[in-house]
Amino acid sequence: MRVQILPARAVSGAIQLPGDKSISHRYALIASIAEGATKIRNYSTGADCQSTLACMRALGANVENRAGTLWIEGRGLDGLREPADMLDAGNSGSTIRMLSGILAAQPFVTRIGGDESLSRRPMARVMKPLAEMGADIEARDGSFPPLTIRGTKLHSIEYTLPVASAQVKSCVLLAGLYAEGRTTVHEPVRTRDHTELALREFGAEVEVEKRSVTVTGRPHLQARDLLVPGDLSSAAFFIVAALIVPESSLTIRSVGLNPTRSALLDFLAAAGAEIKVLDITATGGELIGDVLVRKSRAIRGGVLEKAQTAALIDEIPVLAVLGAASEDGLVVRDAAELRVKETDRIATIAENFRRMGLTIQVREDGFEVPGRQRFHAAELDSFGDHRIAMAFSVAALVADGPCFLEGADSASVSFPEFFDTLHRVAE
Ligand code: S3P
Repeated sequence: MRVQILPARAVSGAIQLPGDKSISHRYALIASIAEGATKIRNYSTGADCQSTLACMRALGANVENRAGTLWIEGRGLDGLREPADMLDAGNSGSTIRMLSGILAAQPFVTRIGGDESLSRRPMARVMKPLAEMGADIEARDGSFPPLTIRGTKLHSIEYTLPVASAQVKSCVLLAGLYAEGRTTVHEPVRTRDHTELALREFGAEVEVEKRSVTVTGRPHLQARDLLVPGDLSSAAFFIVAALIVPESSLTIRSVGLNPTRSALLDFLAAAGAEIKVLDITATGGELIGDVLVRKSRAIRGGVLEKAQTAALIDEIPVLAVLGAASEDGLVVRDAAELRVKETDRIATIAENFRRMGLTIQVREDGFEVPGRQRFHAAELDSFGDHRIAMAFSVAALVADGPCFLEGADSASVSFPEFFDTLHRVAE
């Protein structure tokens, strides 16, 4: 799908966003192996989270959508059944990586794969710790989907993550539910902790000490009544839009503000953005609040490196756009992980920059974008990557004429309502 995006004078009003993608996946996975009926409000409408639901249905969980509220009747820790066909994780790395931890412990064989993009993404990072736990997993060329997972009895391990990855941490913790004793994951830098919070919420024993997480095996997981906060990574597109489009003033209601996810707000505040957070409450161990953004003064830009890069990894495409509009530009280092996301995001950012006549200097593990650049109208492309589609829709708002975006439909991987919402607030 090719859409036209017009330059905007202002981004204003109040919006509410669909449920957080990361939290939705985890609630669906854990609810399916808990006992009883879990109720989930504001479950993500994104295709990725629907892939997780389809997989859990195929594994025997009863999933129903009643008037927009999701109900999942769990099968208990040992109640999943062998699926009739290969499981389809679609475009979702979170689904295949986290679910592998559960599948590795089942008394049956599962095959799981996904679309063309997912089939190019590395799975060795979950296969290695699972193999240490006793798992038997085969992958195409040793690392790529589809995976054949021959379930077996797992044993607990202590594992140090070689890359900062919440998906790998979560995979090991979920596998640890099936092992006797305590499974510990040490992280080089702290990554999003939604799995830890969700597991606790469902009744598992989870200990966190600095950057080490331990789960005790064979817990009694109980159904819960849950609300998914709005997705801060989706909000990021609108926050940046409101910071670069001249006369903007935007309120985003009920956004997830988990401290392991909110580095974006700290970075923007340090760069001089006028952002306020109001009415903070907690739900299911997660923080939630309203975010108010106003375009008032110039944004300085900055340098992203080390732990900060890891904490902001999903927001980098839209921060690249902000960087080009900022006073001082943006330098991104230590971001090799961008190369193995839904697309090679360093390459797809750079290609769209080139099309808009914007300067960017690319390195193997990052890039450098000068500030105060002029955005030219262009034919843009998502290359099938949802965050590239949304980041460059935001860039189009400040172009010097109408832009066209090819592959705009890929936004629905995490945010099907993106273009409707954009039309509502951009004038
Ligand atoms: C996610 C973790 C991150 C992130 C992805 C979602 C999660 O990936 O990029 O969009 O829900 O755990 P990695 O764990 O591979 O860094």
